[in-house]
Amino acid sequence: MNLSVVGGAGYVGLVTGVGFAALGHSVVCQDVDEVRINALRTGHHSIYEPDMDRLLRENLARGRLHFTTSLREAIRHGEIVVIAVGTPARANGEADLSQVVHVAEEVACEARDGYQVIVVKSTVPVGTMELLRTILSQRKVEGKQVDVVANPEFLREGKAFRDFFSPDRIVIGSSSPRALTLVRDLYAPIVRRAVPPDAGGRPDASQVPVIETDLASAQMTKYAANAFLAMRISFINEIAVLCERSGADVRQVVRGLGYDPRIGAAYLSPGLGFGGPCLEKDLHALIKVAEGHQFDPTVLRATLERNAQQTVEVVGKIKRMAGGILNHRLIAVYGLAFKAFTNDLRNSMALRVIHALQTEGANIRVHDPMALPSARAQCPDLMCCDDPYDAAVAADVLVVATEWPEFRELDYARIKAGMRNPCIVDGRNLLDPTELRRLGFRYAGVGIPTE
Ligand code: UGA
Repeated sequence: MNLSVVGGAGYVGLVTGVGFAALGHSVVCQDVDEVRINALRTGHHSIYEPDMDRLLRENLARGRLHFTTSLREAIRHGEIVVIAVGTPARANGEADLSQVVHVAEEVACEARDGYQVIVVKSTVPVGTMELLRTILSQRKVEGKQVDVVANPEFLREGKAFRDFFSPDRIVIGSSSPRALTLVRDLYAPIVRRAVPPDAGGRPDASQVPVIETDLASAQMTKYAANAFLAMRISFINEIAVLCERSGADVRQVVRGLGYDPRIGAAYLSPGLGFGGPCLEKDLHALIKVAEGHQFDPTVLRATLERNAQQTVEVVGKIKRMAGGILNHRLIAVYGLAFKAFTNDLRNSMALRVIHALQTEGANIRVHDPMALPSARAQCPDLMCCDDPYDAAVAADVLVVATEWPEFRELDYARIKAGMRNPCIVDGRNLLDPTELRRLGFRYAGVGIPTE
């Protein structure tokens, strides 16, 4: 198939474009960001994602993947035009749909002769698809027919190709049987688990479930999924605080919870609160949708409130470790990315904690195995250390803010020897409290009893 991805230099867009090219389709990725597009043409990109380098370069070399800044070229190329542009939050929390609407207007003008399908992967509130249909029908041109499909994306940063080639489910929403058939065909090899391993597939006996819905339900599924995940994190963070106050250990509690199949163990790691570009933004957008319907979504609000409170909890813990005062204390922070296996700093809770510490006068030194180049560009005031041991020298408290596994492998006796006070606040429960206490550290985790 000929396929175009608009917003093709962004996270979702690039993974989608590269992924479908790896399945043998002819893909044009379009983006307004000329610098990124030029880099991508030569196989270069700035995101950290396993398999991206290999799949990008292989598919460029095979001539199945092209990059352009011309929206017209992209629209003319694709039987299917995937929209993966951003829907950033406006100041009031609403999703800004201007980029999605702009693409739909362009498709209405530039559509190929015959039949074309617009697949919306961008996360857009319920009702947006109707708006797109209206735009397309108002400008309908003789001999051209365009249908819209809502196909929300569930991929996680750091596991994007795993999620693309082996998704847990595929949700396709449309009122057009013809469009549904086309998109079903597009996903057929993924559904049958027929993706070759060298292209990212994982053989499995069962087919990937495909959920075909109406437009509104597909969009709501995406928001509900992210809201539910966020709610689980807020829930376990609340339980973690209760564990600390009452002498229980949240790690044992999670094991006890996880074996109940109605609950499951995934997504119950307490920490600094949920960060990243999606969960919080989508919660705000869903709350706006609710308000638009004169409905007060109390669970969604509480989820956000609890998340904001978690930063306060962690900062309080660091302050107590620092002796009740942060002014002129030196805090070493391990981890800046919003989670491990990404260099993405968007809405990073590590940065939120750092800002709160700085507000109280603390000096900060940071180390991250992957995110330092982005940090140097985006936060020039931060003192970044390439070496984790340098970051901890003379520190009053060491904070683990991102769950990079390599932090477990460090020589903590050496770290302790360099620190002014051997104190660790492990905001991800990544390290071994028993071992660190044996070495002479004061250690505080999240939801773990203190010594
Ligand atoms: C999230 C969803 O997991 C994806 O399914 C969805 O497609 C994506 O948003 C999106 O809407 O595009 P992502 O933002 O990549 O994916 O990150 P997650 O892995 O969900 O983590 C989000 C945040 O929650 C991170 O800060 C992470 O550290 C935190 N988290 C996650 C916890 O604190 N505890 C957990 O148990 C899990």
